[in-house]
Amino acid sequence: MQAFDVVDSTNTVAAEWIERGAPHGTVVVADYQKQGRGRLGRTWLARAGLNLTFSVVLRPEMPFDRIGLLTIAACLGASKAVDRFVSPLRTSVKWPNDIYLNGKKTCGMLLEASWGTPDRNPAIVLGIGMNVNQEDFPAELEERATSILLETGRITPRAELLAAVLGELETAIAGASTDDEILRRDYVKRMMSFEERIRLRFAHIGSEVTGIVRGLDRSGGLILETDAGRHVFHAGEVTHAAQLEG
Ligand code: BTN
Repeated sequence: MQAFDVVDSTNTVAAEWIERGAPHGTVVVADYQKQGRGRLGRTWLARAGLNLTFSVVLRPEMPFDRIGLLTIAACLGASKAVDRFVSPLRTSVKWPNDIYLNGKKTCGMLLEASWGTPDRNPAIVLGIGMNVNQEDFPAELEERATSILLETGRITPRAELLAAVLGELETAIAGASTDDEILRRDYVKRMMSFEERIRLRFAHIGSEVTGIVRGLDRSGGLILETDAGRHVFHAGEVTHAAQLEG
């Protein structure tokens, strides 16, 4: 593990390290990112000294068509770890890999594949951003974002949280290659809107679908019961029923 005060993005550093042969489990942590990246081309903003922003190099031993399970495993592991610090609250997960506390997002993940490895095996950068001790957010995020401090009223020691997350990630990611059934069952137990109606939006093609969440398939895809029957989706942004009505 290497910790930096400032980097552009820990995902970029991890991708460079993959090209130089960094092994599975290598971790890059930064106290502040100048150009933190989120999903769907967004920016990830996290104030210095208060949060966790880090990336882990993964060299998964699983068929590439089931790599979506890594996303699910990472989200489950991180959610379990955060739970140890937020009692009596519990986190929930929003497919594929957001973690929520009291209905607001407190953690997001960005997985990026890297093909430039010396051994030519694909490697994955798992980037995690957790809002830990930040007390306020920009106005445009206030309604949707929160931190562990805001929800629990307690300062969380970041090193302890990081250690807990890395430990749970190891277990959950190992589980993805051995027993995906237990992994999927655990994930679904924490899933927001299981058996409820959601909207799945595909921003890049400007379309959407609505349906009832029925679970996850063996590759981590979202099973939706739509008007046209059951379908599995591997991408898209979920809006939950409560948000649909609002
Ligand atoms: C999202 O919810 O949009 C994903 C956010 C991912 C943010 C993390 S912070 C560490 C790593 N480095 C980045 O540039 N992004 C990820």
